[in-house]
Amino acid sequence: MVNPHHILAKKTPAADKKKVVVQYFDAIGPRYDLADTFMSFGLHFFWRRAALKYLPIKTGYRILDLCGGAGEFARRIAGTGTRGMSVVCDLSRSMLAAGKSNSAEKPCENPIQWVQSDAEQLGFAEKSFDAVIVGYGIRNLSDVTLGLREIHRVLIPGGKLVIMEFSIPRSRWIRILYHWYSFGVMPGFGRLITGEDAPFIYLAESIRKFPSPKKVQEVIASAGFIRVTCQPLSNGLVTVYSAIKQETARTKK
Ligand SMILES: C[S@@+](CC[C@H](N)C(=O)[O-])C[C@H]1O[C@@H](n2cnc3c(N)ncnc32)[C@H](O)[C@@H]1O
Repeated sequence: MVNPHHILAKKTPAADKKKVVVQYFDAIGPRYDLADTFMSFGLHFFWRRAALKYLPIKTGYRILDLCGGAGEFARRIAGTGTRGMSVVCDLSRSMLAAGKSNSAEKPCENPIQWVQSDAEQLGFAEKSFDAVIVGYGIRNLSDVTLGLREIHRVLIPGGKLVIMEFSIPRSRWIRILYHWYSFGVMPGFGRLITGEDAPFIYLAESIRKFPSPKKVQEVIASAGFIRVTCQPLSNGLVTVYSAIKQETARTKK
């Protein structure tokens, strides 16, 4: 496996970074959900519930679960009982395969489509979705601004963007514990569950390299979104961002 320090170096070309990130997820795909639950001590259930509160799930919804992996969010949306359709889009074949197989075992009330595509170059027409949710995915993009512009393009005017992403805890003591856990414990834990440690070293490193919530809000706004909010969860271990694609004067009623 490629050294995560190498792919996070500024001089690494974006295409190489993307290839390695996808290799990491391809390697852990079948055990990703298990790793997510164990390594977050089950907290991700609470974080996901909190993020979904920002998502408008109305009859006839068309929601994109971008960088959706095994479709954790899409499955929750499809199980709400409200009629509609979700699309999981991810670059990793193995993550998508894990999601499809989970869905085949436990079918949801509503259809889920699985699409292999690059978030920075989406194969969907403009205004295809009412809402887009991105769970722990935006940090993995080689060019976050490009990804946000693509999301903006595929959303309808007035459509909602919800991003759930790791961030650095606010309290100094929790930060110390968190650094110890993510660099000292998590890679070993990850190896035990998935057989790989590089993806988890990458996870810990990429969280540190990702901009602060304040900066992320600015980047979202500069991609054309309005009403950008940010909500820290669990002392800021995770942050949920929400934003709206501005309606143009002509589309406003
Ligand atoms: C940490 S996983 C998150 C999976 C899921 N969203 C969740 O909530 O558990 C990040 C996902 O982003 C995907 N990814 C990374 N870069 C991508 C890109 N450029 N386009 C599409 N998916 C990408 C990876 O393949 C991986 O499945």
